[in-house]
Amino acid sequence: MNTDCIKNKLKECLSEERYLHTLGVADCAKELAQIYNEDEEKAYLAGLLHDCAKCKPNEELLKIIKEELKDVDEGELQNYKTLHAPVGAYFAKTIYNVDDDKIISAIRCHTIGKVGMSLFEKIIFLADKIEANTREKAYRDEIWEILRKNSGEYGLNLALFRCFCETIKSLVKRELKICKTTIDVYNELLEKIKNI
Ligand SMILES: [Fe+2]
Ligand SMILES: [Fe+2]
Repeated sequence: MNTDCIKNKLKECLSEERYLHTLGVADCAKELAQIYNEDEEKAYLAGLLHDCAKCKPNEELLKIIKEELKDVDEGELQNYKTLHAPVGAYFAKTIYNVDDDKIISAIRCHTIGKVGMSLFEKIIFLADKIEANTREKAYRDEIWEILRKNSGEYGLNLALFRCFCETIKSLVKRELKICKTTIDVYNELLEKIKNI
């Protein structure tokens, strides 16, 4: 499926705001890929498709996970907001005919991340947080400042760490469960940036 077909299909299945966010993530992922010497076309495609299952009802997402997917653990099932990641990876493969593992795995882990994320996965994860169409400007500026001041993967790790701090603070504030992967990734990033 070419990019225009993908965009048309996404436009049909996503809300207007989600579609706008999707275009923003694709652009931002491409920009980050250029900075970090990753494949720009693949980054754009992963950005386009990362939320392709986002507007499906939770019951439908749960049904697909139960019937088709084996890699979703209890922690991920605790929060309905994360269900669209495994199903999105599944849709990318089965509906949008993407057979590139790099793209599929980046879509798969874009919500809670995973321990040992690749550079490409980090780029998609971060693009989702700082795209220019729907994300808050002050937050975007802060992350871009971190990336500007700290080159290479170290800068990406610092930026991601900042994102995980925000996520954890927000979950605590709303008295929501924090899944084990989130804590594991936070600890991993902390070790990397502090060199401990
Ligand atoms: Fe998402
Ligand atoms: Fe997103």
